[in-house]
Order: sequence, then structure tokens, then C-alpha cells
Amino acid sequence: MSILVTGGAGYIGSHTVVELLNCGEDVVVVDNYYNSKPEVLNRIREITGREVKFYEVDILDREALDGIFAQEEIESVIHFAAYKAVGESVEKPIDYYYNNITGLLTLTEVMKKHRVKNIVFSSSATVYGLNNISPLREDMPTSATNPYGRTKLMAEEILRDIHTSDNAWNVALLRYFNPIGAHESGRIGENPNGIPNNLMPYITQVAVGKREKLSVFGSNYDTHDGTGVRDYIHVVDLAVGHIKALNKLKEGIGCEAYNLGTGNGYSVLDLVKAFEEASSVEIRYELTERRAGDVATCFADAGRAKKELGWIAERGIAEMCRDSWNWQRKNPEGY
Ligand code: NAD
Ligand code: WQD
Repeated sequence: MSILVTGGAGYIGSHTVVELLNCGEDVVVVDNYYNSKPEVLNRIREITGREVKFYEVDILDREALDGIFAQEEIESVIHFAAYKAVGESVEKPIDYYYNNITGLLTLTEVMKKHRVKNIVFSSSATVYGLNNISPLREDMPTSATNPYGRTKLMAEEILRDIHTSDNAWNVALLRYFNPIGAHESGRIGENPNGIPNNLMPYITQVAVGKREKLSVFGSNYDTHDGTGVRDYIHVVDLAVGHIKALNKLKEGIGCEAYNLGTGNGYSVLDLVKAFEEASSVEIRYELTERRAGDVATCFADAGRAKKELGWIAERGIAEMCRDSWNWQRKNPEGY
């Protein structure tokens, strides 16, 4: 039996595929390379010494997906494939709803047809909206402030309804906080197109000389140094969380949400300092206006994942910075 990983060529997907292969699982990846490169498969093979079965397929292509489920013996699905840029989602809501929601519906419809009813879903801390106070717990009210966030919220509700309609479905809704870092080999990592939206890839591109300086968005938040505080989590810890969630599905969990974060908050300037220490490279920055839609502070209560999945994040901020830098330094142009 195999684990089907949609979006398995992407940033979090590729690290999860490595952990799955290292655990001895057979993996089938579906990706249309919308936001990834074929080279990632060579790198995965190189790191693990194992083959990945790969289908270059869009998850919106129902017939192709149906063919994969007919061909392979799929036991569970990890569903990463989605668009993920918050700002772009405001400009292109139709694209985001179509890819993220129609994609999920197409996938679950095909899963249902083939009686595959175990799914781990990539949700996000963005579902906690603007009004909850950190540490954020899974039982807090959810809301969304942009189309991307709304696709995650809707997807969670769709999956909950599917479970309600048929409790043979087991669903883990994994709410990621801020994934950074890379595999310690420096062979796979985050590979953004164009100007990075997220903080860590921006910092690493300044460090490698691709960008002149970092703009720190807001310096008068109610935080210890005035800059935004987030819960950064090493992508390999995040990947391991998926293995734990898959194991939990087999126990029959119903539909459950889990925060995947460390429970620690670091400000933008904390991260800049930690990165400078890890890389011995100075990061030029300037303090600028707040970015619309940002909250001051966002970090997890990671207690449920620890108690129910037996998972905790093991890698600290220094390791996250070291591995982000190792990846960027060795691959200045990405894949
Ligand atoms: P990514 O863009 O690197 O990976 C997503 C992969 O899905 C890409 O390889 C892309 O080509 C593929 N894809 C997109 N649409 C597809 C389609 N229709 N058919 C087939 N493949 C498709 O993103 P990531 O950072 O690895 O994120 C993975 C998941 O985690 C996404 O669902 C994202 O929303 C979620 N998430 C990411 C973060 C983050 O900060 N990176 C935080 C919270 C949640
Ligand atoms: C982190 C901090 C910024 C860039 C986003 C999505 C969220 C989730 C993770 C998918 C904030 C500051 C950033 C820069 C800066 N993704 N910053 N200069 O906004 O917490 O979360 O990614 O689900 O949904 O919203 O992450 O990395 O963009 O920002 O000062 O150039 O860095 O203001 O305080 P964010 P981020």
C-alpha cells in the first residue's frame, strides 16, 4: 500500500516525502509543477536512495486522478497541493477558490469512489484570524481575512462535513504555523518564484546578495521590540508531524485539528539576529510601514499534538536559520 502525496514536489511536500521514504513507506506523488521543479525528485532520490513514483498531473483533472487511484494501491492521502500566496489571493480569488476548493472536491470525490478515506490536510494558522490571543488553541473560533485563508477555512469545513456524512473517513487538519528551514543536506528547500512574500526566504536572498535589504513591516506593534512575533517551525519537524498524523489516522480519529508549531514566538528582529549568528552574514534592513492584514503576535499552543499525536518540534531557531542558510548558500538560484 502507498501514501499518495499531492503537491509532493513543493516545499513542505518534498520534505515530507523524504521522511515518509525514510520510514519505509511507499510514496506516490502527484504534482503539476505549478510552483515546483522536476529536479526536486532527483534530490529526493539522492537523499533517500529510494525511488518515488511520480505523476505530473493536475488534481483538477478528475480522469487522470481516477486513473492513478485505479493503478496504485493507495491507503492514505496527504494533500498539500494548493496555491498559497495571501496577497495574490486577493488579486485572483477565482483562481484560488478554483484550485484550492475545486481541487479538494475533485480529490475527495475520487478518493470516495476508490474507498480511500484517510486524509491529512495542510491547513494553516491563518484560520485563527485576527481576534484570538496567542497561544492559539484548536478550539478557538476561526475566521478568515483573505481568499487564501478562506480556502483553508472552507476546506476544513468541507472535510468535517464529509466525515459527518460517513464516519469511516479519518481526517487530520494540520494547522501549520510558520515553516522555515530546509533538509540538513542542503539539497532540498524553499524555492520561491520572484520576490519572496515570506520573511525567511527574503532574509536568505538578502544574505546571498540577490536583494539589497529587508523591509521590516511595522516596528510599533505591542511586542517586546515592536516587530511582529511568529511561531517559526523547522520544515523537517513539520514533515515528521505528518507521519505522526498518518499513524493516528489508522487508529480512527474522526476529524480533528492539530496545531503544528513550537509554541515559541520570535519577532522579525529576533529572527534577523538568529540568522546573522547562524550565517555570520549581516542582514541589512529598514523599518517600514505595517503590512495590511498582519497580526502583532501569532504562536501556537502545541499541547494537543503532543498529547494526541506524540509529536513535538525538536529543532530550535538556530537550526532553522542554519539550514535555511545552508540551502540558500548551496543553491543561490534554487533548483
Ligand atoms: P508549495 O507551493 O511549495 O507546494 C505546493 C505544491 O502543490 C507545488 O509543488 C505545486 O506545484 C503543487 N500544486 C498546486 N496546485 C496544484 C494542482 N492543481 N495540481 C497538482 N499540483 C498542484 O507550497 P508549500 O509551502 O509546500 O505548502 C504546501 C501546503 O501547505 C499548501 O496547501 C499551503 O497552503 C499549506 N501551508 C503552507 C504554509 C507555508 O508557509 N509554506 C503555511 C501553512 C499552510
Ligand atoms: C512573518 C513576519 C511580517 C516579510 C504567512 C501567511 C500564513 C502562512 C504562513 C500559509 C510578519 C514580517 C515578512 C518581509 C517582514 N502561510 N515580514 N518583511 O504573514 O506570518 O504568514 O505565511 O498558510 O497564512 O499569512 O508569514 O513570513 O509573511 O511574515 O517584516 O519581507 O515577518 O510582517 O511579522 P505570516 P511571513
